[in-house]
Amino acid sequence: MYSEKVMDHFMNPRNVGEIENASGVGTVGNAKCGDIMKVYLKIENDMVIDAKFKTFGCGAAVATSSMATELIKGKTIQEALKITNKAVMEALDGLPPIKVHCSCLAEEALHAALWDYAEKNGITIEGLEKPKADIHEDEEIPEED
Ligand code: FES
Repeated sequence: MYSEKVMDHFMNPRNVGEIENASGVGTVGNAKCGDIMKVYLKIENDMVIDAKFKTFGCGAAVATSSMATELIKGKTIQEALKITNKAVMEALDGLPPIKVHCSCLAEEALHAALWDYAEKNGITIEGLEKPKADIHEDEEIPEED
């Protein structure tokens, strides 16, 4: 049902954790499944130099957050905007249809973190829309064990 890449990123997720003094933090959740994703970005000179995440959710949510943070590192802000859920799914060699919404959460989390960065710096990022599904930033994400 899952590709090898999805299984790999689920079993060995990259970039798990937090970034202290992150340039932007985005927290999104899906009310239906209850899954929550939090993404931290470090941005310098218009470039995403680091990305980390914490996800309390299903395996596909973990795998897509892992891949999304891998894809965004080293990208300019404009390039980062092109990381859609489709791009994340392609990088993972696909997801079952029932799990597509998990990849949407990853895209929304990246956008929410970019939005937060823009707000903190009083700038407008062309093409970036205010995230719909954001949850309050201080929302605690329970640790998965
Ligand atoms: Fe909701 Fe995967 S089941 S994010």
